[in-house]
Amino acid sequence: MLGGAPVCERVPAARWPEAGEAERRALLGALEEGQWGGYPSPGPRAAAFAERFAAFQDARHGICATNGSVTLEVALTALGLEAGDEVIVPAYTWIATAACAVRTNAVPVFVDSEPRSFCIDPDAVEAAITPRTRALVPVHLGASVADLDRLLEIARRHDLRVVEDCAHMHGARWRERGVGSWGDLGSFSFQTSKLVTAGEGGAILTSDDALAARCHSVVNCGRHEGDYAHLEEWLFGTNARITEFQAAVLETQLDRLPERTERRAAAIAHLSQGLSQVGGLEPLPLDERVTTRAAYEWVLRYDAEGFAGIPRDRFLQALAAEGVQADGPFYVPLPDHPLMNARSTQWPMLRERYGDGIRAPETLRRLEFPVARRAAYEEAVWLHHATLLASPKELDRVVEAVAKVSRHADALR
Ligand SMILES: Cc1ncc(COP(=O)(O)O)c(C=O)c1O
Repeated sequence: MLGGAPVCERVPAARWPEAGEAERRALLGALEEGQWGGYPSPGPRAAAFAERFAAFQDARHGICATNGSVTLEVALTALGLEAGDEVIVPAYTWIATAACAVRTNAVPVFVDSEPRSFCIDPDAVEAAITPRTRALVPVHLGASVADLDRLLEIARRHDLRVVEDCAHMHGARWRERGVGSWGDLGSFSFQTSKLVTAGEGGAILTSDDALAARCHSVVNCGRHEGDYAHLEEWLFGTNARITEFQAAVLETQLDRLPERTERRAAAIAHLSQGLSQVGGLEPLPLDERVTTRAAYEWVLRYDAEGFAGIPRDRFLQALAAEGVQADGPFYVPLPDHPLMNARSTQWPMLRERYGDGIRAPETLRRLEFPVARRAAYEEAVWLHHATLLASPKELDRVVEAVAKVSRHADALR
């Protein structure tokens, strides 16, 4: 930024998504087999993948769908939420976690994060419960797992259903058991940036037979067929079926996941060691109950004091100029985001809690998320998992770049 040569051309050098001969063969296989779409649902490849992925995460059933936004909507629909029911969600997440409530005619109730993990704060959840609360959608954020012990205990005590949003957490285990298998339902995304991807795609996991049948039916326009032909009720569904091409790629990407998970964990250890020598960037601590760590985005806490007081976003600009891409406002508290512009004229169930809408000025003034806002605007530094697949030598460039910015922080200020 101040002239001179950058530390490197660009880290990560790793390409994402990574694919090879296995993906090519799988796609050609699906092409030649002739069933391209997802009807009758599930298709054979989708069914096989869903079963395998469910077992991988320790759930009894898996249902594939078009993406990880729709899976959340299907989950809430399968739970039988009624119009106006409240769904507690973290404020600090991607829009899909809250949009699923709005789009199923429920009311999202936003709560703050825990400072330790930036995941949903169980105390804030408890404080937000009302007689209308029916469900809770915790997100396992970045490389952290939400405090499932406390959240499930609160849910049990208040008779709430739990949908774990695991869009970031393929392969993660809490107390040796896969995430997505702890709540009533678990939702996964296979969108391009994710740890397992087919470009687009999603899956819902559950160990509840009735919920599995309901999810299958909702994904397939409300039909009753195959393993869910016995369903007695007719649910209003949609077409959220995955294609056989996506399922074919997912099979091969899942094969690659365990090795990638190990490489990312090793990269985190390597970077943590290097960055500890520099100071000012502190990895969020790993909860000891997380027995296998997944890292969609590795999240660190920026301390301006370590960088002569320069704001985080100035630090990130300087880091980018050195060739290292990281993100700051990756997420902002959802009501702060123009995408969360759900108005009561379109979604009348919102009126009682949010007046004219979630982003109505008088509503925004009374919504407070001090931890999430500090994370979003001052503290959080997000490093994408493709960076974690870089070689140790490239990872050293990341540390070098941070150290260089630190050395020149006075000049940047
Ligand atoms: C936390 C979270 N939930 C849900 C989603 C939605 O997934 P998709 O992009 O597959 O619709 C995403 C993905 O971007 C996400 O990050």
